[in-house]
Amino acid sequence: MWEEPDALPRPELDARDFRSALGRFPTGVCLVTTLGSGGRPAGMTVNSFTAVSLDPPMVLWSLSRAASSAPVFREAEYFAVNVLAACDAEIASHFAMQGPDKFAAYAARFAPGIGAVPVLQGAAATFECHTRHRNYGGDHIILIGAVERYAHTDRPPLVFHRGKYAALP
Ligand SMILES: Cc1cc2nc3c(=O)[nH]c(=O)nc-3n(C[C@H](O)[C@H](O)[C@H](O)COP(=O)(O)O)c2cc1C
Repeated sequence: MWEEPDALPRPELDARDFRSALGRFPTGVCLVTTLGSGGRPAGMTVNSFTAVSLDPPMVLWSLSRAASSAPVFREAEYFAVNVLAACDAEIASHFAMQGPDKFAAYAARFAPGIGAVPVLQGAAATFECHTRHRNYGGDHIILIGAVERYAHTDRPPLVFHRGKYAALP
């Protein structure tokens, strides 16, 4: 299902430089959350979030196979995409690192959503999703979710560009 479908070309490139090129594309920053089968929450900072479809409402993000929480997200029935506000750069940094219990420091900011997935309160927007497709994406797995509930606020978003967090001017 998410194995390489065909042998793909692998041009010789400098991985750091390729990453720098990708970093020229400014993105928002999201905290993706889920609940593991053992009832343990998982969360990671991502900037691969993209809208897919309006009708039916669908979104996607790319999960690194190397992430420590990859097995949890790969199997998750539900996940939430929390679009971070400009004032939440600290949360972005915190959830971009491995840790035994990343939620403990921000417990008061989360409330259970669909599937008991922790949803960040005070995000710029949230999308609560049912995982529908898991597609091959090289060293990532593309997770496509059907949006079952969403919310948005007027909080300005956090931006990621050239390896740094920023706010819109
Ligand atoms: C701005 C930013 C964007 C990121 N985007 C992604 C992404 O789209 N997919 C991904 O798998 N990891 C992404 N990461 C890396 C993960 O946040 C990082 O590997 C984190 O440690 C994963 O959590 P885990 O170790 O608990 O699995 C991003 C990191 C940063 C700082």
